[in-house]
Formats: sequence, C-alpha cells, structure tokens
Amino acid sequence: MRLAVVGATGAVGTVMLEVLAERSFPADEVVLFASERSAGRRIPFGGAELEVQALTDESVQGFDIAIFSAGGGTSGEWAPRFAAAGAVVVDNSSRWRMEDGVPLVVADVNPEALDSHDGIVANPNCSTMQMMVPLRPIRDAAGIERLVVTTMQSVSGTGQKAIDELRDQTHALLHDQEAEASVYPHRIAFNVLPQAGSFPDGGDYTDEELKLVNETRKILGDETIGVSATCTRVPVFVGHSESVNVQTRDPLSPEECRELLLAAPGIAVLDDPGDGLYPLATAAAGRDEVLVGRIRRDPSHERCLNMWIVGDNLRIGAATNAVMIAERLIERGLTGSRGTPQEIAP
Ligand code: A2P
Repeated sequence: MRLAVVGATGAVGTVMLEVLAERSFPADEVVLFASERSAGRRIPFGGAELEVQALTDESVQGFDIAIFSAGGGTSGEWAPRFAAAGAVVVDNSSRWRMEDGVPLVVADVNPEALDSHDGIVANPNCSTMQMMVPLRPIRDAAGIERLVVTTMQSVSGTGQKAIDELRDQTHALLHDQEAEASVYPHRIAFNVLPQAGSFPDGGDYTDEELKLVNETRKILGDETIGVSATCTRVPVFVGHSESVNVQTRDPLSPEECRELLLAAPGIAVLDDPGDGLYPLATAAAGRDEVLVGRIRRDPSHERCLNMWIVGDNLRIGAATNAVMIAERLIERGLTGSRGTPQEIAP
C-alpha cells in the first residue's frame, strides 16, 4: 500500500497527516507532495521525517491511493495522471465533485457510491459535508423536502494564508495599527462577511452557496430537495457553524429528531440550551464528530425543525472524511487498478 498526500504542507494537508497517524492508516509507504516551493522540506510523520516531493510524471507512478488537498488547479492537472498510473484519487477540491462518474462521498452517509468510481472520488465541500451527517438519518426517517441554511465559516476553510491574515489583522488592530486585507475583499478581523467564496458569472449566489445546493442533492441522491443557502465568513480559526431549517416530508418532533441523531454514527448531540449546552466552534475544533444542538420546532411551519450544526472543517469537513474514504476503498477492495483482481481466462 503506497499512499500519496498531495498538498501535504497546507492547512488541510497538515491535519491529514495527523489523522493518518492517529488512525494508524495501513500504508507501507507514505509520500508527501506539495508545490516546487516546498520540495526538499522535511516533515515529521509517524516517528520519522519525510521529504516533500514535487509532482513530476515519474514521481506520481506506483501509488494505490492519492489524497489531494492542493486546490482545484493542481487536482485538475494531476489527479488524472495519478489515476492513469493506477491510483485511486480522493480529491478534496471542488474540481471533480459534480462530474458524472465521480462519486461524491461522505464516508458514513453514502459509501456505496464508491463502488462505481473510475479512478477519482471527490470529498464534498466542508459545509456540505458536516451537514450531511445529521441530515442522512433525518432523511431516512422522515424525508427532506427543503433546507434553509446560513453558514458561519471559519477562515481555515480558505487555507493557510487566510489563517495568517486573521491572526495578522487581529494583532494589528489590537496594537492600533492598520489591518490590511488581501485574501478576503474586506477585513475579516472583528467582522462578518456576507460572502464566502466568489460570485461566478456575476450571479447572486456565491460558489460556496451553489456547492451547498448541488452537492447536497448529489450526495442524498435527490434532485428535488430545495436548498436555500447563505454562506458567511466569520473571524473564527477552526470550525464551521450552520443554522439549518429542515422541512421534512413526514412530521418529526424535536424529541424524535434527537433520538435519531443519538443513534447515528459520527454525531454528538449537545442540546441543553438552558444550561448553556449547545455546539460551539471551539468545542468542535479537534473532534471528528459533528455537533448538533438547538433542535427545536419552527413555529412558522408544522413540518420544519431548526437546528445548529457545527463541525471541525479541517478534520471531519476535509481530512478525516478523506482518510475515511480511503479506508472504505481498502475495505471494499477498490484501490485502483493495482488492487483490481486479475481476470481469469476461461
Ligand atoms: P506549498 O506549501 O508548497 O505552496 P492551503 O490550502 O493551506 O493554501 O495549502 C495548499 C497546499 O497545496 C499546499 O500544500 C501547497 O504547497 C499545495 N500546492 C499549491 N500549489 C501546488 C502545485 N502547483 N503543485 C503541488 N502542490 C501545490
């Protein structure tokens, strides 16, 4: 089992290495890739130090699995080359998610979609990913007709430069200096931006909002689910919070919803608001469960519930799900052409 980690020096890639080590991922060899700027850098992993490689036609040969978190451009160029060389690519960027023939998978929600992969598997957008975990048991029990979602997304979802920008701006403002914005269009420190992502083709919705709509439908396998999304960026380092209004097909009480979520994998229900118990970004950071709380009736609609969903966007929203997908691929014997059983001649 040879595993490639592409984007190993980035915000998600760094967490990916932690998650691989924590879960004792069964790789005989792990090779780290990043841009040419980082080639030669040494990164601790599993008690040793690994040297970061640059991507070349030679260096991408001979892998069983390649996990990518290096942006859409790198995935567009290099994922097909890894796949052609026999690896299954688990890609964290948005480049391949909506392509036909590319399964879009949340490990605990729709692992069966992996069976039809053609060399590339996509990891959903972090906001969609964490929302799917509690929505799957709700969908199974009561059906889902419509979702109204407002996200409050942390800066680490944008990458390491955005983490640095929030830190630098906060420091500058607390020391009576000017805070410069370069990653985001406006200052993020002590602010809330009603824009996460960009506005493609001059439209009214950001690409982050469109991802929530399209990826939700693809993962749940239902093009009829209505999704209305507003994605915001907030001055939080790690952890995306989401206010979600769920309209079910059949009636579902808050009590029934809590029971469903308590029985489902990957979820922690924190729901005693009178005692100050509800999901917080600070509580989600570093955990792999999706936290759900503030589950309550929507007084304006008999089949709607409101809830607050929080996840660590670097872990369960990205790195942990990617590693779990790789684990499922191994369990299902789906690890690329090198793992495909040979055809036996009649
Ligand atoms: P590098 O650190 O050498 O720039 P983030 O999402 O935190 O910005 O991280 C992006 C990751 O993708 C980093 O590991 C970065 O490496 C890597 N990366 C960016 N461009 C390329 C490229 N052209 N080829 C390979 N890796 C890349």
